[in-house]
Amino acid sequence: MSQRQLFVTTALPYANGNFHIGHIMEYIQADIWVRFQRMQGHQVDFVGADDTHGAPIMIAAEKAGLTPQQFVANIAAGRKPYLDGFHIQFDNWHSTDAPENHALAQQIYRDLRDIPELEGGSLIERRTIEQFFDPEKNMFLPDRFIKGECPKCHAKDQYGDNCEVCGAVYAPTDLINPFSALSGAKPELKSSEHFFFKLSDPRCVAFLEKWTQDGKLQPEVANKVKEWFSVRTNPDGTTSEGLGDWDISRDAPYFGIEIPDTAIDGAPAKYFYVWLDAPVGYLASLKNLLDKRGESYDAYMANDKLEQYHFIGKDIVTFHTLFWPAMLHFSGRKTPNNVFVHGFLTVNNGEKMSKSRGTGLDPLKYLGLGMNPEWLRYYLATKLNNRNEDVDFNAEDFMLRVNSDLIGKFVNIASRAAGFLTKRFDGQLTQSFGEQGTALLGDIHAAKGSVAQAYDAREYGKATREIMLLADKVNAYVDQHKPWDLAKDAANNEALHQVCSLLINAFAELSRYLAPVLPSLAQAVETFTGTSMQNWHATGYVATIQPYQHLMQRVTPEQLEALFEPPAVVEEKVTPGGEDIAPTISIDDFAKVDLRIAEIVNCEAVEGSVKLLRLTLDVGEGKTRNVFSGVASMYKPEDLVGKLTVMVANLAPRKMKFGVSEGMVLAASHADDKTDAGIYVLHPWPGAKPGMRIH
Ligand code: MSP
Ligand code: ZN
Repeated sequence: MSQRQLFVTTALPYANGNFHIGHIMEYIQADIWVRFQRMQGHQVDFVGADDTHGAPIMIAAEKAGLTPQQFVANIAAGRKPYLDGFHIQFDNWHSTDAPENHALAQQIYRDLRDIPELEGGSLIERRTIEQFFDPEKNMFLPDRFIKGECPKCHAKDQYGDNCEVCGAVYAPTDLINPFSALSGAKPELKSSEHFFFKLSDPRCVAFLEKWTQDGKLQPEVANKVKEWFSVRTNPDGTTSEGLGDWDISRDAPYFGIEIPDTAIDGAPAKYFYVWLDAPVGYLASLKNLLDKRGESYDAYMANDKLEQYHFIGKDIVTFHTLFWPAMLHFSGRKTPNNVFVHGFLTVNNGEKMSKSRGTGLDPLKYLGLGMNPEWLRYYLATKLNNRNEDVDFNAEDFMLRVNSDLIGKFVNIASRAAGFLTKRFDGQLTQSFGEQGTALLGDIHAAKGSVAQAYDAREYGKATREIMLLADKVNAYVDQHKPWDLAKDAANNEALHQVCSLLINAFAELSRYLAPVLPSLAQAVETFTGTSMQNWHATGYVATIQPYQHLMQRVTPEQLEALFEPPAVVEEKVTPGGEDIAPTISIDDFAKVDLRIAEIVNCEAVEGSVKLLRLTLDVGEGKTRNVFSGVASMYKPEDLVGKLTVMVANLAPRKMKFGVSEGMVLAASHADDKTDAGIYVLHPWPGAKPGMRIH
């Protein structure tokens, strides 16, 4: 077989959090394939990168008090222990915010924009659309940062695209009393010019119908994609015919890549939507790798033998089977040879993964408990196939597969034979195995092709099953020839030598078959047997062995229990109500604050604000005061009218959007309003009268 040139990627994880076990599964799936292809002698470049752009990361950075660049750099700094820990061997890890990606994304965009009339004209179109705008934050709001009341079931506090209570799907503009989840302000509809990639253009439709339906995609993926050519569901729940155009721009402020030629007075105005530049990050990471090696990116991509594959999860199929191939093709670039879609990993019978409740499987905790990364690699391999199906991590099943199959059936072959060879034969092996032994080794060699086929087709479950069937045969041979009985009588020395030598050769061959899954064990076997585990087609017999060292421990129930034990809540620092107690003040400082009992004589909603109520307060001054208070989420105006409360009576009046506030009502809340802890107006004990001071 001639040497193939492969460019392989996994999806680029959002740089807003550490890896979870779902990411690790995707990387292990791809890493096994890459290692297998390398063992075949193929040339593989395997790259990843952080997906850094977009509004959610920009907002998370702001909350953390960091620039987006600092924020994503912190996340990037935490990647290595996961990748090293699970033996995931990327050749390069880069970032979508790197200069290579800025340049490539902009060039691809220009190429799409500047398609000459003769070739059908530009595929980029400008259109003005209306969108919700946050007047306090001065920015357009992504759907998930708009909240309000569900138009169907009237549940409060629902997101802009769908209701978590009744499941209704709608547009943000359908929400009742919408508000910005960032500032609480009432969003305003504002128009803005957006850039669209014309996916509905007949050229795109024709190209994509062919690209997605020519048999390369997994059948269930191709079928799903096919539906998108006939009908699609709009955000408001209605359906339309065929592919819709794709909105690829976002207005400043945005953490992303500037769209060329859109700056106004030198200030960036339009950025690429994160999903435009994210897959370009595959190429940027590759380019960065080639630059480091001193190789030419253009020459690399011009090689028509180059094969390009993307491993992805089922949730991002649209981006990889429609937008991405269309972007590449119409900008005059090579399209992927295929996209390999996997299902989702669930933990212990589909329990939803939740970090806070500790029901998930924390990859670093797994490693920290001293659990062998290759147990997980092996276990996932037994469960993975080439279909878009979910995979469940089940603790009992995991223990069974690792202890009974991997160790009981496979690793034990070596430990049963090695001792006799070292003690009795000075570690020297014979190459005559007897008729039965030779036949058994022949069976193992004969399976090499079909095991290889299974790996190549990403049917790892099938590959490991075949390998374990071979291990069963070897164990049957052990049970029949009983080396421990042969060892009792020196007259059987030759038979013992043959049986044990055969077992080590069988073990070495099976180790080679498992090497893509168990790279570290394979390396130990290479040292132990002196035979190469790097080359799938290696031939020859083991001549000598080194004294046997334990190759793999069993997993214990205690480890699994500890793994799924909810993390102990270690509060290093207690912060009551979400914030530290303020610095100490003197009684004189306190005396500066004039707190008075006030009667709420009137209370009204404030038109244009979802947060504020307008209170009319009597503090016994012979006149009333007007005070705004941000408690509308907790109280209806009629709840408060006639009640007593406490106010700061000597606070300087403050001019607000809705009028002047002459003081402040005291209310209790958690420092982080995201906790849904609520806000509570203070209410004095009976007997207090308006105007009384609080000392
Ligand atoms: N940033 C985008 C991908 C851009 S690719 C140009 C993204 N990031 S992600 O962090 O949400 O997901 C990264 C990958 O992890 C995706 O392939 C996704 O399907 C996969 N998984 C996320 N959760 C998963 C599981 N629970 N199980 C398996 N894979 C899962 O999407
Ligand atoms: Zn609803």
